[in-house]
Order: sequence, then C-alpha cells, then structure tokens
Amino acid sequence: MSTMDWFKGKTIFVTGGGSGINFGIARNFAKLGANIAICSRSQDKLNAAAAELRTQGGQVLPVAADVRNADEIELALDRSSSELGPADVVVCGAAGNFLCAADKLSPNGFKTVIEIDLVGSFNTARSAFDQLRQTKGSILFISAGQAFLPYMHQVHVGAAKAGIDNMMRTLALEWGRVGIRSNSIAPGFIAETEGTKRVAHSGAVAAIVKATPLSRLGSVDDIGQAAVFLSSPLASFITGTVLVVDGGHYLSGSAPVNAFQTTL
Ligand code: COA
Ligand code: NAP
Repeated sequence: MSTMDWFKGKTIFVTGGGSGINFGIARNFAKLGANIAICSRSQDKLNAAAAELRTQGGQVLPVAADVRNADEIELALDRSSSELGPADVVVCGAAGNFLCAADKLSPNGFKTVIEIDLVGSFNTARSAFDQLRQTKGSILFISAGQAFLPYMHQVHVGAAKAGIDNMMRTLALEWGRVGIRSNSIAPGFIAETEGTKRVAHSGAVAAIVKATPLSRLGSVDDIGQAAVFLSSPLASFITGTVLVVDGGHYLSGSAPVNAFQTTL
C-alpha cells in the first residue's frame, strides 16, 4: 500500500477541530482521504470548518459537544462511529487559555482550564476506548511547552498540560496491551492561532522568533504533519512519548516570553 493510502477511508475524530491547530490536523488527514469528525461547542463554527474540509473529498461530520460534559462527548463519539465507522485516530485538542497571574486567578478560572484541557481529554479518551480497541488505533493529546517549562501567568495551563502528558503515558501503559498507541504533541508558538494571540503580546512574537533556533513561528501544517506521522505505520513502535514541535524554542526556556508579562 502506498503511504498516500494509509489514511484513505479511516476515521479521525478531533476535539477542538473547528479552528486553529486542530483544524490544521483535521485538514492534513482529510488531504490523505480520511473521513473526519470535528467536535467543539459551537455548531456554526464546526459547520463552516466542515464545508472547507469536504473540499478534500471525504466525509465530514461536524458534531457539537462540550468536552467537559462526559455524556455529550460520549454521544458525539457514538454518532461519529455510527456515521463514519469506529475511530482509527482520536485527537484530544480542545483547550482554553488566557494569561493571568496566579494570585489574580480565581478558583473557577483555574478550574475552568483544568476541566476543558485535562478532564475534557480524559472524557474523550475514556469514551473513545472501545472504538480504538476495535481499530488498534492511536490517541494523540495536544500538549504545550507549559507542561514541562513554567511560563509566567500560565499556572492553570501548565498544570493542565502536565496532567495531560502524565495521563497520556498512563494510557500508553494500560492500552498498549490492546494495540492502542498514546502520544502527545507539544506545539511551540504557532502563527495565526488563537493560542499565540492570547499568550504572546505583539512585541513578544519577535522575541520568540529570535529565541527559536529555526527562526520562525510554527505553522498549523507543522503540527498536522506531526500528527499524521505519529498516527501512521512509520510510528508503529512509538507510544508514551511527547513530540515537541517548536523549532527548538524550548531550548531557550521561557524567559524570552516571561519578559513581556507585567510583574506583580
Ligand atoms: N483572566 C482571568 N480570568 C479569566 C479570564 C481572563 N482573561 N477569562 C476567563 N476567566 C475566568 C472567569 O472570570 C471565570 O471565573 P469566575 O467565575 O471566578 O469569574 C472563569 O475563568 C470561567 O470563565 P467563563 O468565561 O465562564 O468560561 P467559559 O467556559 O465560557 O470559557 C475560556 C472558557 C475562559 C477558556 C474561554 O476563553 C474560551 O472559551 N476559550 C477557548 C478558546 C481558547 O482559549 N483558545 C486558545 C487555546 S490555547
Ligand atoms: P483554538 O483555535 O482556540 O482551539 C481551541 C479549540 O477548542 C476551539 O476550536 C474551541 O472551539 C475548542 N474548545 C474550547 N473549549 C471547548 C470545550 N469546552 N469543549 C469542546 N471544545 C472546546 O486555539 P489553538 O491555538 O489552535 O489551540 C489548539 C490546541 O493547541 C490547544 O490544545 C492548545 O492548548 C494547543 N497549543 C496551541 C499553541 C499555539 O501556539 N496556538 C501552542 C501550544 C499548544 P469552540 O469555541 O467551538 O468550543
């Protein structure tokens, strides 16, 4: 089978798939002939994204669900399975972010990000287990540099993403026995995305580029291609790992970005 056929007719389920990095991931699989389910809170946003994905020729299901609600995400995965077939790849990419100093962050602000990113990823993974066991599929978590480097005003995100990576490794241990691979991608700063808009003030972008060995921001296709690689037969012996896709930015630490956060 040609490498171009690896994902033809396969089912890819992407939370947060209506925009940004997760949409880029969905588009990279759609280009390879996969059928795609995208899921987030806004049905209108999903419908618009689905129309764009359908131009690649495959089937696309836009299904609204809040990942914080275990029943909603289970229904979305059930619908995806009955309309497109059991998922071969599940991408847990839904997330929320904003900058806030730890002492100013309300308990509910902290909890909200933990619930979307960490609890939402668990809800998705748990509901996807039976489908992935059937397909011997792959689950991908979208992490971030904040998981392994402290960034100022990101206490909520760092805790959530570090939790995701730990969960990813635990699932690799437990689910590897039934043929499911579990990995994370930690994107660096990705151009023209909501995440970069929220975390990097305008002046910070130039500093980030300067602190990045490959001297640019990432693109959504950089992450989409990494997702395709990790889900493909090329990565058939890779599980329990975090693939950092950031042009080497983490080697400079978080200080170049922290310099732009106003102090207490
Ligand atoms: N600074 C400090 N606290 C904030 C905040 C900010 N910029 N934005 C929200 N919060 C707090 C709220 O004040 C609230 O806490 P409170 O009840 O103590 O006042 C809590 O977070 C929940 O806010 P709410 O607006 O009800 O949450 P939501 O569930 O509607 O939305 C968010 C979730 C806040 C993460 C929202 O920004 C979102 O939907 N983000 C999705 C897109 C995104 O973040 N993309 C980037 C991904 S990297
Ligand atoms: P984005 O476009 O805002 O993506 C976040 C998605 O999550 C949105 O489509 C949003 O759609 C969905 N979402 C939010 N809350 C949800 C909920 N409760 N239930 C279901 N869906 C929900 O931002 P992005 O920057 O591309 O980020 C995508 C992923 O990459 C995130 O996991 C983020 O942490 C990670 N990341 C981004 C960067 C970066 O540079 N951008 C760097 C590192 C990591 P709705 O509003 O319709 O729900």
